[in-house]
Amino acid sequence: MERSYQKAWNKAFKNRLKVGHVVANLFNNTTLTEVSLLALEKNTFFGAIYYQTNPRKTNDYKMNFLVNTTYRTEAEEIMDDFSIAGPILNDALDKLAIINKLLGGNSVTLNGLKVLVKNQPKNKPITIIDLGCGGGDILRAIAQYGKKEGYNFQLIGVDANKNATDYAATLSTNYENISFVHVDVFSEEFKAMRYDIVITTLFLHHFKGAVLLQLVKHLVKTANMGIVVNDLHRHRLAYYLFKLITIPVKNKMIIEDGLTSVLRGFKRKELVDLSKQLNSNHQLNWKWAFRYQWILKSSEFKV
Ligand SMILES: C[S@@+](CC[C@H](N)C(=O)[O-])C[C@H]1O[C@@H](n2cnc3c(N)ncnc32)[C@H](O)[C@@H]1O
Repeated sequence: MERSYQKAWNKAFKNRLKVGHVVANLFNNTTLTEVSLLALEKNTFFGAIYYQTNPRKTNDYKMNFLVNTTYRTEAEEIMDDFSIAGPILNDALDKLAIINKLLGGNSVTLNGLKVLVKNQPKNKPITIIDLGCGGGDILRAIAQYGKKEGYNFQLIGVDANKNATDYAATLSTNYENISFVHVDVFSEEFKAMRYDIVITTLFLHHFKGAVLLQLVKHLVKTANMGIVVNDLHRHRLAYYLFKLITIPVKNKMIIEDGLTSVLRGFKRKELVDLSKQLNSNHQLNWKWAFRYQWILKSSEFKV
């Protein structure tokens, strides 16, 4: 009975994600998204409702109606505690895998990787590390792609949460070219690691300011080929769409961390500014669903 309930729940969750996907495809364009949002903000009907329920806020309803995304939030995520373990973590990682699969997360990373490996000889060994790999679902998708195309990929998942890397390893026993290491990216052990490509999905938004800059500088210097970043666009619509999509979700970690992640995400200008400071060859693309695909190529590497 429990299994059939779980099956029914998963189906309902997947359907809701698909509906969200279709609806939000209408906004599958940065300009259209901005225009839609502006229309929503300027809509006097919503404004009037807000005014009725908040009579003391006379003229400022347009500013306060929606969540403020001007600056990256300082709030932390539950997942920032690397001792998180057990069913709540495994369930959160499983749901993240579904979200990544249905909301374009995997394809944003995989398509970025394809740009870097496009002209490489298929027999050349390429070491790819996935920072903040969580349950490792993206590495499994890359392993399947590599196998289909005949690439010689060595895939390493890196995460500071040992429970996550242990769980990822149990899910990846059928993939002989994937391994996982329990390493913090700010440790000496990480500094000693060598690789050709770095991929990061929903990971870079965990860091800010000088810490973020130093980390990406180190990655650009060390990766022989380049880096593929897949992270969130800090946008009000993304925030409310996530709220809508996760209405049936019971896992507090997924909901709270998801919303905080959006508010920790990036605006285009912030990534452009970072690219300038890195002095690196880069491509920055907006992708559904409110993701940025940021590809940084190492200076000697020609695609
Ligand atoms: C939001 S999860 C993303 C998981 C996975 N990439 C995905 O998209 O499903 C972020 C992951 O980054 C890991 N993480 C955060 N800070 C880290 C650090 N300093 N070093 C290594 N891993 C870290 C967390 O443990 C967590 O598993």
